[in-house]
Amino acid sequence: MSEIMMHTDVERILVSAEEIDRITTKIAAKIDEDYKNADGKLVLLGILKGSVVFMGDLMKKITLPVEIDFMKVSSYGAGTTTTGRIKIHLDLCRSDLSECNILIVEDIIDSGKTLSYLTEYLRINGARSVKTCTLLDKPSRREVDFVSDYVGASIPDEFVVGYGLDYAEKYRALPYVGILKREVYEKN
Ligand code: PRP
Repeated sequence: MSEIMMHTDVERILVSAEEIDRITTKIAAKIDEDYKNADGKLVLLGILKGSVVFMGDLMKKITLPVEIDFMKVSSYGAGTTTTGRIKIHLDLCRSDLSECNILIVEDIIDSGKTLSYLTEYLRINGARSVKTCTLLDKPSRREVDFVSDYVGASIPDEFVVGYGLDYAEKYRALPYVGILKREVYEKN
């Protein structure tokens, strides 16, 4: 990605479009390998909204048959502990969970509360298996003990946008992950 194409609100590119392409190819190949003999359906479960760009690219590179589904959740309340308090805004409506190998797809893991809660929630509700996949991981921000099965890139604790990630709903369509200029979010 050339500097010329960089958004003016972006300080620098952290994960380029080319690097993201390499990451999705590698993860898709690993998923193909890991699930090729699995009983049941492979269901990619995107967590809205940030995951949609990554999931769209990832599913095109998986050669096994996949179904897709979505949930929308949010953390709420300050000072939350353990798995945090997660509100489900859009639930998974399937009657075949016991046949589903759910692979939750996220754009980023921060505190770990969202994925920690969701894996437990889906297991309790009878999914055949539950694994997680994230494009980005910020291990230094972890508040609960959580390790994802597939991680594209571990990144430092920077304010990142693009490739699904937003600031105030902007920048999700950028083809790369970039660090947002401090002045953009400090002026509000
Ligand atoms: C982000 C991200 C994860 C969650 C990770 O979603 O997409 O779902 O936060 O944070 P955690 O590890 O601390 O739980 P966000 O709430 O920003 O919503 P969005 O995807 O709609 O932008």
